[in-house]
Amino acid sequence: METKLTGLSVISVGILGLALIMLTACATPKASEKGRSEVWGQTCGGCHYNYSPSSFNDSEWELLVHHMRQRAYLTAEEQRLITEFLKAAN
Ligand code: HEC
Repeated sequence: METKLTGLSVISVGILGLALIMLTACATPKASEKGRSEVWGQTCGGCHYNYSPSSFNDSEWELLVHHMRQRAYLTAEEQRLITEFLKAAN
């Protein structure tokens, strides 16, 4: 019971934090640039090292992120943010 409650509140703090990040990301272009790279950094380095954006060109990234979407269970929004970041940074 005690641990369940603690687990739940950790999750809600996480969700709140995520909502905050998303809110700030929408507020200014600069923050949204940061939001993209953070989504990429947190999502894509979990299974392998983070391939540098310059490793692939725009159309290769379109395909690769689509492929990784299935592996990493990305939402459409995450896929969009990550693709935008990689195409802007390569
Ligand atoms: C659940 C684990 C997992 C996550 C999360 C993940 N990948 Fe991968 N990735 C793999 C595996 C496994 C391979 C190699 C086999 C394959 O291509 O399916 C791979 C291969 C790659 C390659 C190499 C492809 C090549 O042709 O050399 C790139 C680039 C890549 N991932 C990018 C990403 C990006 C960008 C993200 C974030 C959206 C991501 N990965 C998230 C598991 C993951």
